[in-house]
Amino acid sequence: NEIKIFCPATIANLSCGFDVLGLCLDNVGDEMVVRKSAEKGIRITKIVGADLPLETENNVSGVAGLALLETVNPDFGFEIEIYKNIKAGSGIGSSAASSAGAVFGINALLGYPYQTKDLVQFAMQGEKLACGNAHADNVAPALLGGFTLVRSYSPLDIIKIESPSELYATVVHPQIELKTSDARSVLKQTVSLKSAIMQWGNVGGLIAGLYTQDYDLIGRSLHDEIVEPLRSVLIPGFDSIKQAALENGALGSGISGSGPSIFALSKGAATAEKIAKAMCEVYEAINLPYEIHVSKV
Ligand code: HSE
Repeated sequence: NEIKIFCPATIANLSCGFDVLGLCLDNVGDEMVVRKSAEKGIRITKIVGADLPLETENNVSGVAGLALLETVNPDFGFEIEIYKNIKAGSGIGSSAASSAGAVFGINALLGYPYQTKDLVQFAMQGEKLACGNAHADNVAPALLGGFTLVRSYSPLDIIKIESPSELYATVVHPQIELKTSDARSVLKQTVSLKSAIMQWGNVGGLIAGLYTQDYDLIGRSLHDEIVEPLRSVLIPGFDSIKQAALENGALGSGISGSGPSIFALSKGAATAEKIAKAMCEVYEAINLPYEIHVSKV
């Protein structure tokens, strides 16, 4: 009658895949307890570690859960406790973790009426509440693990992507908050054909590199023509962090989700740790508080 869930942080976009690519961090995340209750509907009974709304309709977990319940309508309800570790506005999928956790927990307590992949559509409603846009590139990897691709939004088509065994992610979070809605408002609504050609070449290259374990190809493909130039100016020290990552063996580096976190991918744990150290030195030199994570992909 109760389930405890680890709700992982995620890196969306991965440079070339704005709103379509994401990956799951296996050791950074929130915890959530979902339990059945006699009263129908959803109540958020506890939030620890963040100042977030308890009202179901104003909480991403509540909204995602309600979207699922609308299709099932059981004669009981659910209580949710949320223990946040992922900071809001950090760029590693804080709202996605909560949205994904809620639908995963509720689906489990309902006896799994849905396959995990089919929960993405409900979790996306939490993202819509959080930033005004129902993107799936954080909730899909949070639910499915590993790398995911949103091949299409309409109809929704989520693909789980194989990734090489020695791929690691390093993520540094400068301690400022950047709202996804603000980071989306700086984007242009049109792209040039020239930029689009480079971008879809890189998306294809990245997917091919992941499947063939071609680390050099993964690195060559981690490039963003369209979004990074507009958003990187919002992130303190972005160029220095990226340069430090590349100089210390990163395959590629870019903005994690909508920022301000910055990620680097690398081959092997030792390189990922070396990159982490170099990133820390950059922020220490300018006295900017940060958090750092190294995770296997
Ligand atoms: N794809 C989304 C964006 C992710 O970049 O706005 C937000 O976390």
